Amino acid sequence: MTDNEPTAKPSAGDVARRWQELAESDNSVYRRNDVPPARVESMARSGYVEPVVAATREGDRVLEAGCGSGTISLALARRARAVVSVDISPAVLRNLARNRDRLGEHFRQPLSLMPVRGDIERLPFADGSFAAVTNEGVVEHWLERDARVAVLREMARVVRPGGVVAVYVPNGRHPLVRWWYWTKYPGFVTSASVPWHRYGWRELADDLRAAGLTEVTADGLSPYSTLAVWPNWWILRALAAGLRRLLPEPQWLRRRWGFNLVAVGHKPN
Ligand SMILES: C[S@@+](CC[C@H](N)C(=O)[O-])C[C@H]1O[C@@H](n2cnc3c(N)ncnc32)[C@H](O)[C@@H]1O
Repeated sequence: MTDNEPTAKPSAGDVARRWQELAESDNSVYRRNDVPPARVESMARSGYVEPVVAATREGDRVLEAGCGSGTISLALARRARAVVSVDISPAVLRNLARNRDRLGEHFRQPLSLMPVRGDIERLPFADGSFAAVTNEGVVEHWLERDARVAVLREMARVVRPGGVVAVYVPNGRHPLVRWWYWTKYPGFVTSASVPWHRYGWRELADDLRAAGLTEVTADGLSPYSTLAVWPNWWILRALAAGLRRLLPEPQWLRRRWGFNLVAVGHKPN
């Protein structure tokens, strides 16, 4: 069996059900209510947030569709966007509201973030409601291409003309991905219960185009860091840090060795 061939192919409805079970289990990472302020600050200056920040202005409405822990939503709110965070799981949304309030007090500046329960396949918003729509680790869980494109099209529907859709997925073509599976890297434990499609950067860009987006670009994030993802030994961390400092990260390397891929597309005017 390859990574892309789960024993039973879940329907789109099953994606939501499986995630909800996972997200609401007692030790789920999506229910941590102690997201550290430093993590939000570093996320707020990261490649997970910059494409959306660059395409929007302070106060613009931004949607994270399938927010999970909501770290990206919190970071976007920290960059003064008016964030709406949608998830299918009420438990993760309650948790996110607690993190928002606690972090707002910490930063002495309330974070504009509204958790909303909803299904990404039928987002509860009118066409063109947002300046940007994003998510990370969501779209790849629909195993059929048509279903993934339908999810992307639904994200594009709620973006205003001229706005952007920014999608992050794990790099299914990373040279070490099979090793991570084989050695049961904990970051992929969730993937065992919620199967995922192994995207490459070209395919991700094609899916955004198929969803009606234009001027699509695709890239990869943090290639050298992936050397120390698993096993997370200090010697590998030191190697990754050294490489980051000494060598450039050209685009071909980011796309091949980036842990996550990102594709950004524009809704035509
Ligand atoms: C991998 S997690 C996202 C991780 C997130 N980026 C973070 O930083 O924690 C995927 C999320 O998508 C949500 N989800 C799955 N299916 C959904 C659906 N049909 N509609 C809305 N959310 C959904 C799950 O509940 C889960 O919280």
